[in-house]
Amino acid sequence: MTALLEVEDLKVAYGKIEAVKGISFSVEAGQIVTLIGTNGAGKTTTLRTLSGLLKPAAGRVLFDGKPLSGIPAHKIVALGLAHSPEGRHIFPRLTIAENLQLGAFLRSDKAGIEKDIQRAYDLFPILGERRKQAAGTLSGGEQQMLAMGRALMSQPKLLMLDEPSMGLSPIMMQKIMATIAELKSQGMTILLIEQNAQAALSLADHGHVMEIGKIVLSGTGQDLLHDESVRKAYLGED
Ligand SMILES: Nc1ncnc2c1ncn2[C@@H]1O[C@H](COP(=O)(O)OP(=O)(O)OP(=O)(O)O)[C@@H](O)[C@H]1O
Ligand SMILES: [Mg+2]
Repeated sequence: MTALLEVEDLKVAYGKIEAVKGISFSVEAGQIVTLIGTNGAGKTTTLRTLSGLLKPAAGRVLFDGKPLSGIPAHKIVALGLAHSPEGRHIFPRLTIAENLQLGAFLRSDKAGIEKDIQRAYDLFPILGERRKQAAGTLSGGEQQMLAMGRALMSQPKLLMLDEPSMGLSPIMMQKIMATIAELKSQGMTILLIEQNAQAALSLADHGHVMEIGKIVLSGTGQDLLHDESVRKAYLGED
């Protein structure tokens, strides 16, 4: 079986700075795969490239068997690859309901859109309670929920989450992680970037550790959780 996402020797540069220096990994349908690593390792750059927001310098990306090279970002969303970006980027003056509607901008099936908005409210009840409120009034954790809900509105085959727990309280973080597990149990495929390596590896089928543009270690989530070098570098143990 070929994987839903195949990344082969991907290189991405900002001018002369090579931020991603030839990485390869794959994501099978139904899996959670996580990229962890230090600040500046190239994780966000990788996701932005997969979304079509950055053009790779080299390498190949196959999504659902199709090469993504040269396909613009909105068409990549239409193919089923959704991205909940770092820093959330919700529209603060629009209501929660309007933000969710925008996530469905490529769809015209009104009834289906309404059903999926209801699904987002089921997943995150607070969004339903506040549906008419400006999104900018939500707390950081609630805005993260809205960003995830919005990404789901495109009916993705693969959901990419860039640091969904950034800046959240431990309780909010647990809530977000539980929701990621729930999405997986519903069959969603997820590529997760997280600073919280413990939480991400606990959920993940596979993980890859990135350092300055390269993957330096790969394994199952459990293998990496118990790996001594990972424990020292990312889980705060000596
Ligand atoms: N727009 C840009 N122009 C120039 N360099 C950039 C740009 N964006 C990122 N970089 C550089 O590329 C490298 C990788 O950055 P990236 O944001 O992908 O890292 P990251 O792994 O997501 O880090 P973090 O954990 O801090 O979010 C860094 O050295 C960063 O300074
Ligand atoms: Mg980042």
